[in-house]
Amino acid sequence: MKHLIDPLDFSVEEIDDLLNLADDIAADRQKYAHVCDGKKLATLFSEPSTRPRLSFEAAMLNMGGSVLGFASADSSSASKGESVADTIRVISCYADICAMRHPKEGAPLRAARYSGIPVINAGDGGHQHPTQTLTDLMTIRRRKGRLHDLTIGLCGDLKFGRTVHSLIKSLSRYENIRFVLISPEELRVPDYILEETLDRKGIPYKEVVDLEQVMPELDILYMTRVQRERFFNEADYVRLKDSYILTMPKLRSAKPDMAVLHPLPRVNEISLDVDNDPRAAYFEQVQNGVYVRMALMIRLLGVKVC
Ligand code: NCD
Repeated sequence: MKHLIDPLDFSVEEIDDLLNLADDIAADRQKYAHVCDGKKLATLFSEPSTRPRLSFEAAMLNMGGSVLGFASADSSSASKGESVADTIRVISCYADICAMRHPKEGAPLRAARYSGIPVINAGDGGHQHPTQTLTDLMTIRRRKGRLHDLTIGLCGDLKFGRTVHSLIKSLSRYENIRFVLISPEELRVPDYILEETLDRKGIPYKEVVDLEQVMPELDILYMTRVQRERFFNEADYVRLKDSYILTMPKLRSAKPDMAVLHPLPRVNEISLDVDNDPRAAYFEQVQNGVYVRMALMIRLLGVKVC
Protein backbone atom coordinates (compact mmCIF):
# COMPACT_ATOMS: atom_id res chain seq x y z
CA MET A 1 0.00 0.00 0.00
CA LYS A 2 1.27 3.46 -0.89
CA HIS A 3 1.04 6.61 1.25
CA LEU A 4 2.11 10.21 0.60
CA ILE A 5 3.99 11.40 3.68
CA ASP A 6 7.11 13.01 2.25
CA PRO A 7 7.41 14.77 -1.14
CA LEU A 8 10.04 12.22 -2.16
CA ASP A 9 7.68 9.26 -1.65
CA PHE A 10 6.82 9.59 -5.34
CA SER A 11 9.49 9.32 -8.03
CA VAL A 12 9.87 12.02 -10.68
CA GLU A 13 8.09 9.66 -13.11
CA GLU A 14 5.21 9.13 -10.68
CA ILE A 15 4.92 12.90 -10.19
CA ASP A 16 4.81 13.34 -13.99
CA ASP A 17 2.04 10.77 -14.18
CA LEU A 18 0.08 12.54 -11.41
CA LEU A 19 0.45 15.94 -13.04
CA ASN A 20 -0.60 14.54 -16.43
CA LEU A 21 -3.65 12.98 -14.82
CA ALA A 22 -4.43 16.27 -13.03
CA ASP A 23 -4.19 18.14 -16.37
CA ASP A 24 -6.56 15.65 -17.91
CA ILE A 25 -9.02 16.09 -15.02
CA ALA A 26 -8.81 19.89 -15.49
CA ALA A 27 -9.65 19.45 -19.17
CA ASP A 28 -12.59 17.07 -18.66
CA ARG A 29 -13.97 16.91 -15.12
CA GLN A 30 -17.09 15.08 -16.23
CA LYS A 31 -15.03 12.04 -17.20
CA TYR A 32 -14.01 11.61 -13.55
CA ALA A 33 -17.36 12.36 -11.92
CA HIS A 34 -17.94 8.76 -10.78
CA VAL A 35 -14.53 7.14 -10.53
CA CYS A 36 -14.74 7.08 -6.71
CA ASP A 37 -18.39 6.10 -6.33
CA GLY A 38 -18.73 4.31 -2.99
CA LYS A 39 -15.30 5.40 -1.71
CA LYS A 40 -14.88 7.27 1.57
CA LEU A 41 -12.26 9.84 2.52
CA ALA A 42 -11.63 10.52 6.23
CA THR A 43 -10.21 13.95 7.01
CA LEU A 44 -8.27 14.02 10.27
CA PHE A 45 -7.32 17.64 10.73
CA SER A 46 -6.12 18.52 14.20
CA GLU A 47 -4.89 21.98 13.15
CA PRO A 48 -6.79 24.90 11.64
CA SER A 49 -7.14 24.68 7.88
CA THR A 50 -9.47 25.86 5.16
CA ARG A 51 -7.90 25.07 1.83
CA PRO A 52 -6.38 21.65 2.23
CA ARG A 53 -9.34 20.31 4.12
CA LEU A 54 -11.97 21.71 1.79
CA SER A 55 -9.96 20.89 -1.29
CA PHE A 56 -9.59 17.27 -0.20
CA GLU A 57 -13.32 17.17 0.45
CA ALA A 58 -14.16 18.84 -2.86
CA ALA A 59 -11.77 16.48 -4.67
CA MET A 60 -13.50 13.38 -3.26
CA LEU A 61 -17.01 14.76 -3.83
CA ASN A 62 -16.08 15.67 -7.43
CA MET A 63 -15.35 11.98 -8.03
CA GLY A 64 -18.61 10.67 -6.57
CA GLY A 65 -17.16 9.60 -3.21
CA SER A 66 -18.07 10.77 0.28
CA VAL A 67 -16.24 12.33 3.19
CA LEU A 68 -16.19 11.83 6.95
CA GLY A 69 -14.38 14.02 9.46
CA PHE A 70 -14.56 16.28 12.47
CA ALA A 71 -15.22 19.97 12.66
CA SER A 72 -12.09 20.37 14.82
CA ALA A 73 -9.55 18.42 16.86
CA ASP A 74 -11.42 19.29 20.06
CA SER A 75 -14.37 17.23 18.92
CA SER A 76 -12.28 14.10 18.20
CA SER A 77 -10.90 11.54 20.67
CA ALA A 78 -7.43 13.04 20.28
CA SER A 79 -8.61 15.50 22.93
CA LYS A 80 -9.17 12.52 25.26
CA GLY A 81 -5.60 11.40 24.76
CA GLU A 82 -5.97 8.76 22.04
CA SER A 83 -2.72 7.97 20.21
CA VAL A 84 -2.28 8.56 16.49
CA ALA A 85 -1.65 4.83 16.06
CA ASP A 86 -5.00 3.89 17.63
CA THR A 87 -6.90 6.64 15.82
CA ILE A 88 -5.71 5.49 12.41
CA ARG A 89 -6.43 1.82 13.17
CA VAL A 90 -10.00 2.84 13.96
CA ILE A 91 -10.33 5.12 10.92
CA SER A 92 -9.08 2.26 8.73
CA CYS A 93 -12.30 0.41 9.61
CA TYR A 94 -14.48 3.32 8.47
CA ALA A 95 -12.83 4.82 5.38
CA ASP A 96 -10.83 3.90 2.27
CA ILE A 97 -8.27 6.71 2.47
CA CYS A 98 -7.26 9.32 5.03
CA ALA A 99 -5.90 12.87 4.78
CA MET A 100 -4.22 13.95 7.99
CA ARG A 101 -2.99 17.31 9.29
CA HIS A 102 -1.21 17.32 12.62
CA PRO A 103 0.76 19.87 14.65
CA LYS A 104 3.37 17.23 15.54
CA GLU A 105 6.09 16.59 13.01
CA GLY A 106 6.16 12.95 12.00
CA ALA A 107 2.58 12.16 13.14
CA PRO A 108 1.38 11.16 9.63
CA LEU A 109 4.44 8.93 9.18
CA ARG A 110 3.60 7.17 12.43
CA ALA A 111 -0.03 6.85 11.36
CA ALA A 112 1.03 5.27 8.06
CA ARG A 113 2.87 2.51 9.94
CA TYR A 114 -0.31 1.40 11.67
CA SER A 115 -2.79 2.16 8.93
CA GLY A 116 -4.85 -0.27 6.91
CA ILE A 117 -5.61 2.46 4.32
CA PRO A 118 -3.47 4.99 2.38
CA VAL A 119 -2.51 8.02 4.50
CA ILE A 120 -1.88 11.45 2.97
CA ASN A 121 0.13 13.99 4.94
CA ALA A 122 -1.81 17.26 4.68
CA GLY A 123 0.83 19.15 6.72
CA ASP A 124 2.76 18.07 9.82
CA GLY A 125 3.93 20.94 12.05
CA GLY A 126 6.71 22.98 10.46
CA HIS A 127 7.94 19.91 8.59
CA GLN A 128 6.40 18.94 5.24
CA HIS A 129 3.32 19.56 3.13
CA PRO A 130 3.56 17.30 0.06
CA THR A 131 0.08 17.92 -1.40
CA GLN A 132 0.69 21.67 -1.43
CA THR A 133 3.87 20.85 -3.32
CA LEU A 134 1.96 18.86 -5.92
CA THR A 135 -0.31 21.89 -6.29
CA ASP A 136 2.73 24.16 -6.68
CA LEU A 137 4.36 21.84 -9.21
CA MET A 138 1.19 21.64 -11.27
CA THR A 139 0.90 25.44 -11.27
CA ILE A 140 4.55 25.96 -12.21
CA ARG A 141 4.33 23.37 -14.99
CA ARG A 142 1.15 24.87 -16.42
CA ARG A 143 2.56 28.40 -16.29
CA LYS A 144 6.11 27.71 -17.48
CA GLY A 145 5.66 24.46 -19.42
CA ARG A 146 8.50 22.80 -17.47
CA LEU A 147 9.87 21.98 -14.02
CA HIS A 148 13.54 22.25 -15.05
CA ASP A 149 15.73 25.23 -15.96
CA LEU A 150 14.11 27.60 -13.49
CA THR A 151 15.21 30.19 -10.96
CA ILE A 152 12.85 29.98 -8.00
CA GLY A 153 12.65 32.75 -5.42
CA LEU A 154 11.19 31.68 -2.06
CA CYS A 155 10.31 34.64 0.12
CA GLY A 156 9.16 35.12 3.71
CA ASP A 157 9.13 32.58 6.52
CA LEU A 158 11.51 29.96 5.17
CA LYS A 159 12.19 28.57 8.64
CA PHE A 160 8.73 27.45 9.71
CA GLY A 161 7.07 27.32 6.27
CA ARG A 162 6.52 23.63 5.57
CA THR A 163 5.34 24.35 2.02
CA VAL A 164 8.78 25.85 1.35
CA HIS A 165 10.57 22.82 2.77
CA SER A 166 8.58 20.41 0.63
CA LEU A 167 8.93 22.49 -2.52
CA ILE A 168 12.72 22.74 -2.17
CA LYS A 169 12.96 18.99 -1.65
CA SER A 170 10.81 18.24 -4.63
CA LEU A 171 12.21 20.74 -7.14
CA SER A 172 15.77 19.79 -6.29
CA ARG A 173 15.25 16.62 -8.35
CA TYR A 174 14.89 18.54 -11.63
CA GLU A 175 17.71 19.71 -13.93
CA ASN A 176 19.19 23.16 -13.69
CA ILE A 177 17.16 24.52 -10.79
CA ARG A 178 18.51 27.51 -8.89
CA PHE A 179 17.04 28.79 -5.62
CA VAL A 180 17.06 32.35 -4.32
CA LEU A 181 16.14 32.23 -0.62
CA ILE A 182 14.78 35.59 0.50
CA SER A 183 14.14 35.99 4.23
CA PRO A 184 15.08 37.90 7.36
CA GLU A 185 18.11 36.41 9.11
CA GLU A 186 15.87 34.85 11.80
CA LEU A 187 13.65 33.03 9.29
CA ARG A 188 16.27 31.39 7.05
CA VAL A 189 15.79 27.89 5.64
CA PRO A 190 16.85 25.40 8.37
CA ASP A 191 20.44 24.18 8.05
CA TYR A 192 19.38 20.55 7.73
CA ILE A 193 17.58 21.35 4.47
CA LEU A 194 20.45 23.43 3.11
CA GLU A 195 22.91 20.65 3.94
CA GLU A 196 20.93 17.52 3.13
CA THR A 197 19.06 18.74 0.08
CA LEU A 198 21.00 21.58 -1.54
CA ASP A 199 24.67 21.30 -0.54
CA ARG A 200 24.78 17.54 -0.86
CA LYS A 201 23.43 17.63 -4.41
CA GLY A 202 25.42 20.71 -5.41
CA ILE A 203 22.27 22.69 -6.23
CA PRO A 204 23.02 26.40 -6.63
CA TYR A 205 21.33 28.76 -4.17
CA LYS A 206 21.88 32.08 -2.53
CA GLU A 207 20.42 33.57 0.64
CA VAL A 208 19.46 37.24 0.55
CA VAL A 209 17.45 39.65 2.67
CA ASP A 210 16.37 42.08 -0.05
CA LEU A 211 13.59 41.02 -2.42
CA GLU A 212 13.80 43.86 -4.93
CA GLN A 213 17.46 43.33 -5.63
CA VAL A 214 16.84 39.77 -6.93
CA MET A 215 13.44 40.32 -8.58
CA PRO A 216 14.74 40.52 -12.20
CA GLU A 217 16.37 37.06 -11.95
CA LEU A 218 13.27 35.13 -10.93
CA ASP A 219 11.08 32.84 -13.03
CA ILE A 220 8.90 32.03 -10.02
CA LEU A 221 8.33 34.09 -6.88
CA TYR A 222 6.87 31.99 -4.06
CA MET A 223 5.58 34.29 -1.31
CA THR A 224 4.76 32.92 2.16
CA ARG A 225 3.06 34.01 5.35
CA VAL A 226 5.04 34.40 8.57
CA GLN A 227 3.87 31.35 10.54
CA ARG A 228 2.59 33.03 13.69
CA GLU A 229 1.48 29.77 15.33
CA ARG A 230 5.03 28.40 15.35
CA PHE A 231 6.64 31.39 17.09
CA PHE A 232 7.60 31.12 20.73
CA ASN A 233 7.03 34.78 21.37
CA GLU A 234 4.55 37.29 19.99
CA ALA A 235 7.04 40.20 19.97
CA ASP A 236 9.24 38.37 17.43
CA TYR A 237 6.22 37.68 15.26
CA VAL A 238 5.12 41.32 15.34
CA ARG A 239 8.64 42.45 14.45
CA LEU A 240 8.94 40.08 11.49
CA LYS A 241 5.40 39.76 10.14
CA ASP A 242 5.60 42.54 7.58
CA SER A 243 9.15 41.87 6.41
CA TYR A 244 7.94 41.47 2.82
CA ILE A 245 4.97 42.99 1.10
CA LEU A 246 4.79 42.48 -2.65
CA THR A 247 3.35 45.54 -4.40
CA MET A 248 2.94 46.57 -8.05
CA PRO A 249 5.91 48.98 -7.98
CA LYS A 250 8.14 46.15 -6.73
CA LEU A 251 6.94 43.93 -9.60
CA ARG A 252 8.09 46.49 -12.17
CA SER A 253 11.54 44.97 -12.47
CA ALA A 254 10.23 41.38 -12.63
CA LYS A 255 10.20 39.31 -15.83
CA PRO A 256 6.91 39.75 -17.70
CA ASP A 257 6.27 36.00 -17.54
CA MET A 258 7.33 35.46 -13.93
CA ALA A 259 4.64 33.68 -11.88
CA VAL A 260 3.77 34.74 -8.34
CA LEU A 261 2.68 31.82 -6.16
CA HIS A 262 1.46 31.74 -2.55
CA PRO A 263 0.07 28.69 -0.73
CA LEU A 264 -2.47 30.98 1.03
CA PRO A 265 -3.79 32.11 3.43
CA ARG A 266 -2.32 35.53 2.63
CA VAL A 267 -2.09 37.96 5.51
CA ASN A 268 -0.22 41.01 4.27
CA GLU A 269 2.45 39.57 1.97
CA ILE A 270 0.85 40.51 -1.35
CA SER A 271 -1.02 43.74 -1.79
CA LEU A 272 -4.48 43.41 -3.33
CA ASP A 273 -3.64 45.30 -6.52
CA VAL A 274 -1.23 42.51 -7.52
CA ASP A 275 -4.24 40.16 -7.83
CA ASN A 276 -5.13 41.67 -11.19
CA ASP A 277 -1.64 41.33 -12.65
CA PRO A 278 -1.34 38.40 -15.08
CA ARG A 279 1.66 37.15 -13.11
CA ALA A 280 -0.52 36.44 -10.04
CA ALA A 281 -1.04 32.67 -10.01
CA TYR A 282 -2.22 32.04 -6.43
CA PHE A 283 -5.93 31.61 -7.08
CA GLU A 284 -5.14 29.35 -10.03
CA GLN A 285 -3.03 27.37 -7.55
CA VAL A 286 -6.11 26.80 -5.37
CA GLN A 287 -8.03 25.41 -8.34
CA ASN A 288 -5.10 23.21 -9.35
CA GLY A 289 -5.01 21.92 -5.77
CA VAL A 290 -8.36 20.25 -6.25
CA TYR A 291 -7.34 18.58 -9.53
CA VAL A 292 -4.06 17.31 -8.19
CA ARG A 293 -5.71 15.90 -5.05
CA MET A 294 -8.22 14.11 -7.26
CA ALA A 295 -5.34 12.63 -9.25
CA LEU A 296 -3.53 11.65 -6.05
CA MET A 297 -6.53 9.85 -4.56
CA ILE A 298 -7.19 8.04 -7.85
CA ARG A 299 -3.64 6.66 -7.82
CA LEU A 300 -3.49 5.85 -4.08
CA LEU A 301 -6.85 4.09 -4.19
CA GLY A 302 -5.86 2.30 -7.38
CA VAL A 303 -9.21 3.07 -9.01
CA LYS A 304 -9.56 2.50 -12.74
CA VAL A 305 -9.99 5.41 -15.10
CA CYS A 306 -10.58 4.97 -18.81
C1 NCD B 1 -0.03 26.42 4.19
C2 NCD B 1 0.14 25.51 5.39
O1 NCD B 1 -0.85 25.15 6.02
O2 NCD B 1 1.27 25.16 5.65
N1 NCD B 1 -1.35 26.61 3.80
C3 NCD B 1 -1.97 25.71 3.04
O3 NCD B 1 -1.82 24.52 3.19
N2 NCD B 1 -2.71 26.19 2.05
C4 NCD B 1 0.67 27.70 4.34
C5 NCD B 1 0.30 28.57 5.49
O4 NCD B 1 -0.51 28.21 6.35
O5 NCD B 1 0.86 29.67 5.55
